[in-house]
Amino acid sequence: MNLPDRVFITEVGPRDGLQNEKQPVSTDVKVELCERLLAAGVRQLEATSFVSPKWVPQMADAAEVMARLPRPAGVTLSVLTPNMKGFEAALAAGAGEVVIFAAASEAFSMRNINCSIAESVERFRPVAQAAREHRLRLRAAVSVAFGCPYQGEVPVASVVDVAARMRDLGCDEIGIADTIGVGTAAQVGRVFEAVAREVPLGQLSAHFHDTYGQAVANVVAGLQAGIFRFDSSIAGLGGCPYAKGATGNVATEDVVYLMHGLGIETGLDLDALVETGQWISRLLGRASASRAGNAIAARRRAKAEEAA
Ligand code: HMG
Ligand code: MG
Repeated sequence: MNLPDRVFITEVGPRDGLQNEKQPVSTDVKVELCERLLAAGVRQLEATSFVSPKWVPQMADAAEVMARLPRPAGVTLSVLTPNMKGFEAALAAGAGEVVIFAAASEAFSMRNINCSIAESVERFRPVAQAAREHRLRLRAAVSVAFGCPYQGEVPVASVVDVAARMRDLGCDEIGIADTIGVGTAAQVGRVFEAVAREVPLGQLSAHFHDTYGQAVANVVAGLQAGIFRFDSSIAGLGGCPYAKGATGNVATEDVVYLMHGLGIETGLDLDALVETGQWISRLLGRASASRAGNAIAARRRAKAEEAA
């Protein structure tokens, strides 16, 4: 396998991870989560969303979270912006990257952002232009690229079509997302091979949810397809309020364990990530979904008990 020397990981826990939490998570906890992630070496951090608080109440404190975050050199803080209202708030909050999010199925587009795919592209056009004018990095997400909770199968041609529309808007990066975690490794190969005919590999990233336990395998399939940008979420937190039953993203700790095992640099401190994953899981009142994180934490506990 021809592997890259390093990969670029965008941490999406504070956004994708927390957006789906039923109980309100305090702004203090959100800020501390981001601070811990930055201290663990995260350089691309998806911090929050400037979306309608009626649609996603958990993200209603986006401006306050952004105002309180440190901005170490080399860090890009990303935020979701579905429209100009979101963009303006993101700009005022000092975001370094804005993320527009489209879907590869009409049904999911309607449920998630209340408009058709074509309408979403028109809504994103001024956002893309404003991002260029203000020199903000522009990323797109293409949701339900491996299956849709409403439509079922999603043709590869639809994914390619939406990715090409995002490219035409001038996106710096286009994330191909398995929103409901149904994709398998062979499908990952097929989808990325097809999309890469329209969008250069270096501009693509992979965003895998882990509902069917395939996400780490799918990351390997992504590497094999030439992808070197991945989204992941601390402790495997995550889900989309408009994709019921979908579980969290691939856990950052698991991706980092995988990459380091393959001799691929991530720039991330696995021990600090494990600590952070255990901390946020405790606060949310459940076990971490990271297998590597839990295994490393258990080994640490056993060692501490032996020493005591
Ligand atoms: P709408 O109801 O059609 O919008 O929603 P509207 O323009 O008619 O506005 C309705 C109200 O929302 C108005 O307030 C607006 O001001 C307000 P009112 O006058 O009723 O008081 N509003 C906003 N407020 C704050 N920020 C904004 C904003 N825009 C409008 N930016 C809309 C359309 C797109 C706004 C709505 O559907 C929405 O916010 N959707 C977001 C859904 C969402 O966040 N989903 C999760 C993130 S995507 C995801 O998780 C997938 C991803 O992880 C990849 C993957 O896994 O697939 C990225
Ligand atoms: Mg997601």
